[in-house]
Amino acid sequence: MPETTLTYVEQELTMDGVPLAEIARSVGTPVYIYSLRRILAQLERLRAAFTPLQPAFHYSLKANGNSAIIRALVGAGCGCDAVSAGEIFLARRAGCPPERIVFAGVGKTRAEIRYALETGIGWLNVENAAELRRLEALAAELGHRPRAALRINPALQAETHRHIATGHAGSKFGIPLVEARMLLEHRGDYPHVEIAGLHMHIGSQLGRPDESAAAARLAVELAREFQLKHLNLGGGFPVAYEGGHAVPVEDFAAALVPVLAKQGMKVAFEPGRFLVAEAGVLVAEVQYVKRGGRTVVLDTGMNDLLRPALYEARHPLLPLRVGEAAARPVQVVGPICESADVIHPAAVLPPLAEGDLVAIGVAGAYGMSMASNYNARPRPAEVLVEEGAWRVIRARETFEDLIRYEPKGQ
Ligand SMILES: Cc1ncc(COP(=O)(O)O)c(C=O)c1O
Repeated sequence: MPETTLTYVEQELTMDGVPLAEIARSVGTPVYIYSLRRILAQLERLRAAFTPLQPAFHYSLKANGNSAIIRALVGAGCGCDAVSAGEIFLARRAGCPPERIVFAGVGKTRAEIRYALETGIGWLNVENAAELRRLEALAAELGHRPRAALRINPALQAETHRHIATGHAGSKFGIPLVEARMLLEHRGDYPHVEIAGLHMHIGSQLGRPDESAAAARLAVELAREFQLKHLNLGGGFPVAYEGGHAVPVEDFAAALVPVLAKQGMKVAFEPGRFLVAEAGVLVAEVQYVKRGGRTVVLDTGMNDLLRPALYEARHPLLPLRVGEAAARPVQVVGPICESADVIHPAAVLPPLAEGDLVAIGVAGAYGMSMASNYNARPRPAEVLVEEGAWRVIRARETFEDLIRYEPKGQ
């Protein structure tokens, strides 16, 4: 994590000047804590990298759907990328104008499409021919003519974890190029849909700008062939997890700008992870140290942060207080009744004791948004650090929340 967000001051881990232990003491653990400054800085970095294209950025809400974060990014000029009617609702509620909402998703139901049309959103990214027919029928019924982009599948295997590669031929996402061409040739069959662009998202946490450029080239060729003026190239810009190196976003820009500049097209991106991942930590408390110090059990696990179990992700672990003792590898686990609930198999940490606090870094994206109540655990609180102060942006769930939707007296 860059020093600008997390720094040790007098041996205490701070976020933008605020000691994380102060928040944990007040709000309890586990707690997600985000730096607003860092989120906005990430957006500025993206904007600067892609200046020659002047693209639109649609924040991908799936990364972190807290309304305070959506509102801040919308306020800074982002649109929103939604993948469900629920996310369209969140975007609208956080003040995003409907025309700046794009709606992607592989399985849009009739009810969701209807909701999107009634909301008047800017774009629907269509993922298959049957969806286009469904959209045509609903648009005709409601007397609308929405703008749509065809989500193409470029049949490229992006270098990333297999669970987040979405642009290869065997993937459930998007429309193969041959089929997209056929749909475009017959776009007159869909008089209530204005097919005005192409959409593509080949994966998340991407490792190779040249692959992204190759995919963009395919999209540009197809768009030119059918005089389409809008290209939405999805998200996928990577961040550095533990000790890791992520290809800088500037390298993606260096590969993509030459492909996209001077094509007379409006370009859009849908960043999620890049905007929020490095701005967030999940702070937890050590419950037990066992196996002669080789295993540390925290009060957070895969229910709060699924990424280690789902993607074998390695998040950096940082003690909230550092001393002089030497660090050594230790297995860090959660309390969930699953062997997969290992937060880190060998985190290098100083000796920890019951009651110590640790921060799981780079946890701002796909952390809270993927959290569940598994093992009947109320989900954590969320806190936003802003200009040297902090506030709770989502309260910790309670036991009552666990039964809220069950009939009373059951
Ligand atoms: C269509 C689409 N757009 C954008 C994103 C955001 O990706 P990322 O968080 O990697 O930027 C995703 C995530 O998988 C996606 O499926």
